[in-house]
Amino acid sequence: MSDYFKKINTALQQANFALPMLIIDQARLDANLAQVKRMLTPKVQPRLVVKSLGSIELLKYIANDLNCNRFMVFHLPHVPLVLNAFSNANILLGKPMPVRAVHNFYEHNKSMTQAPIQWLIDSIERLEQYLELAKSLELKLLINIEIDVGLHRGGVQDLTQFRELLTLIQSNPKHLQFSGLMGYDAHVGKIPKVIKSTAKTYDQSQSEYQKFIACIANDFPTLNHVKLCFNGAGSPTFSLHTEHSICNDISFGSMLLKPADFDLPTLVYFQPALWIATPVLKKLPTTQIPGLALLDKAPSNKNALFVYGGYWMANYVHPEGAQTNSLYGRSSNQELVNVPKSSDIHVDDFVFLQPSQSEAVISQFEQVWIYSGENFTYWETFRA
Ligand SMILES: Cc1ncc(COP(=O)(O)O)c(C=O)c1O
Repeated sequence: MSDYFKKINTALQQANFALPMLIIDQARLDANLAQVKRMLTPKVQPRLVVKSLGSIELLKYIANDLNCNRFMVFHLPHVPLVLNAFSNANILLGKPMPVRAVHNFYEHNKSMTQAPIQWLIDSIERLEQYLELAKSLELKLLINIEIDVGLHRGGVQDLTQFRELLTLIQSNPKHLQFSGLMGYDAHVGKIPKVIKSTAKTYDQSQSEYQKFIACIANDFPTLNHVKLCFNGAGSPTFSLHTEHSICNDISFGSMLLKPADFDLPTLVYFQPALWIATPVLKKLPTTQIPGLALLDKAPSNKNALFVYGGYWMANYVHPEGAQTNSLYGRSSNQELVNVPKSSDIHVDDFVFLQPSQSEAVISQFEQVWIYSGENFTYWETFRA
């Protein structure tokens, strides 16, 4: 791994970079996309998780490669961005939006009243609010129902609640159109194996899902049609859904960049492709802790670097053995990083970090730099 980062370090210096940068390794991203294409089957359509991929150009690159026009959006201002960038986009909200936010969205984006946006509904109270909004704006809203398949993050849990929602939709065909279900199963794989196996937890979440699908077919035949969107998954369970799934629409985002939190058994065939590179400003022979002068003379096999920036949601991965110092503390301005004295790293070299998640980290940078193996080009992120 060390040679890999040394090569990027050289490329960065040759290109005259000297500030903190967010980098995507294009060859690794391409390998992850190829892996997705090998695993996808015609039974499931991919849906890109916009918050995890944080850049319209990045989304375009991925959507083009996967021939995908479905997006899951979690932040309302991203809806017009996605609709403007992709003329045929189908949007599913990943969380329920306050009705006032939806009202403001339609007020400011009058040209988008016909756009296929599936609003996520988790309760009868919210559905009633959306119905009132649809009546007042003379709109027909697409309604996708959030179901709880075991994650327990809200959503409909039982068939009594579910029937109440579908009955209200069915009796207001002028203003509401049922578009499907969303059942996120991030708990699968997180429950300790001594309590329940991943396979068993997955099967249970799938049979919960099936219960709601059966209810639509049996009790609401007029709402039932082949185009209903049964969304599920997320990176951690993507591979399970590609083997067998009740869903016909599966979301993922993070695994294409594989930040550290996604180092999971279900994602072994994916490679980390996202790094932060930041230059070393100072290199000191020892770590001096203010107020603890006694420790100054203690023998140490580590140098202290001060790097440009720091305190990102990320782990130092190069040079090997680099780590923050809990006695000295963290800094977003100039972070102290201890490295073994044997590390071949100097002032103006770059250290590298692997973000633990893409969502929070991409939005801290204005550009994400695409490293082709030789040179760098950039895409703007949502922050720009
Ligand atoms: C509803 C829903 N679906 C899917 C995902 C998966 O996103 P990712 O693949 O980036 O983990 C998330 C992540 O928060 C989510 O909340």
